[in-house]
Amino acid sequence: MTALDDPAAEAQLPWHLRGNYAPILTEVEAYDLPVHGALPTDLNGRYFRNGANPKHGPTAHWFAGDGMLHGIRLRDGKAEWYRNRWVQTRQLEGARRINMQTGEFDLTVGAANTHVWRHAGRIFALEEASLPNEVSPDLDTLGPYNFGGALCTPMTAHPHTCAETGEMHFFGYELVKAPYVTYHVADAQGNLVHTQPIDVPGPTMVHDFALSRHYAIFLDLPVTFDLSLAMTGTMPFTWDPGYGARIGLLHRERARHGEQPRWFDVPLCYVFHIMNAWDDGTDGPDGVEARSVWLDAGRHASMWDGSPDNFKPSLMWRWRFDLVTGEVHETQLDDINHAFPRIDERLTGLANRFGWAVAPRNGRERGEMGEPTVIVKYDLQSGSRTVHDLGADAQSGEPVFVPAHEGAGEDEGYLVTFVYHGDTDSSRFVVLDAADMSAPPIASVPLPQRVPHGFHGSWFAD
Ligand SMILES: [Fe+2]
Repeated sequence: MTALDDPAAEAQLPWHLRGNYAPILTEVEAYDLPVHGALPTDLNGRYFRNGANPKHGPTAHWFAGDGMLHGIRLRDGKAEWYRNRWVQTRQLEGARRINMQTGEFDLTVGAANTHVWRHAGRIFALEEASLPNEVSPDLDTLGPYNFGGALCTPMTAHPHTCAETGEMHFFGYELVKAPYVTYHVADAQGNLVHTQPIDVPGPTMVHDFALSRHYAIFLDLPVTFDLSLAMTGTMPFTWDPGYGARIGLLHRERARHGEQPRWFDVPLCYVFHIMNAWDDGTDGPDGVEARSVWLDAGRHASMWDGSPDNFKPSLMWRWRFDLVTGEVHETQLDDINHAFPRIDERLTGLANRFGWAVAPRNGRERGEMGEPTVIVKYDLQSGSRTVHDLGADAQSGEPVFVPAHEGAGEDEGYLVTFVYHGDTDSSRFVVLDAADMSAPPIASVPLPQRVPHGFHGSWFAD
């Protein structure tokens, strides 16, 4: 028996190993699941979600656990199967990512626990300090993937696929030597076609980045790597206000000729997740250079200042970068402490009106881990926010938007996610109407086991 199986020992554990953050130790599959309501018959595909689920006993931090994927397969109004699988990483087999003799990182070793993303027919389980692990549509692990040997850095867990070109843009960040950040582009066919070091002064932790039509947008913010902490096995990143804070705009086309980002200093903050970015440039023979670039993201006033449990609230802010004057304008858009913002990804890099996220049910500024949550919808045009309340004991995962059909409008579609219910210690898969947050769920599917809180997921349409 491990500490995780023993209720008395569980009470002594940190929050990320208790309640619905506690890992599950079984891999199951179930077929022809019961459905409450009616699954839309046009919702054909798979929803996969990744998360940290330590296999070999307690971990020092939520982010350290072994990746486990939970998947549900929908077809013709039926929930054909649910299954969960650990990503069979080299870490799971006991391999270590840092060679203690040489200090070198082995990029094939990672937790593969943060996100799951599909590009050019391959599905990747992602964690930002290592290569992706490719998995099959049935959640079998195929192994580390390096784009035919072309990728020689880690890969972020937050790649973005350009809505207009189908290219996947991403980056990797490294911790012990420059270049600390490297930008990559894979074309729509999955070939790595561009790799470029990005000049940043130190080992900053970069969780996400953004695309607009003409720019790739990099965050160089004051959470940095501390090797002495890494050696102790604890969270190796800390708040480092002396590092400064800046955001870089890299022209996507001129980057192909070696241009570096134009950096804009901003007040100290940290950002985990970006909602979207866009610019006012146009393409074509009469195309005009962008004058402004906009970026919407969850801004934390600081992160891990003095303790890895010191999270400041994530509030939605907008930055506007004026490429003529060089000025940055910051505006707070909303006052709710949110997590996991998502948009209709057909608008990645283009101006979006709507976004969805998770927020605490019991108050805007609260949001202790394990509290009930609701799903919020931002209307950035009207400046309003609406809420879908899943119930007094419900804790929702990240809402992923699925368009109802190819030509659907921006919020014409569904939100899919896993929801945990504390009163019954059980989980269900839920489909909501993305346009009408006041409507009851369109469908829900009770799952054969609890789905622990995790990080990010994706819908993979057939
Ligand atoms: Fe993330």
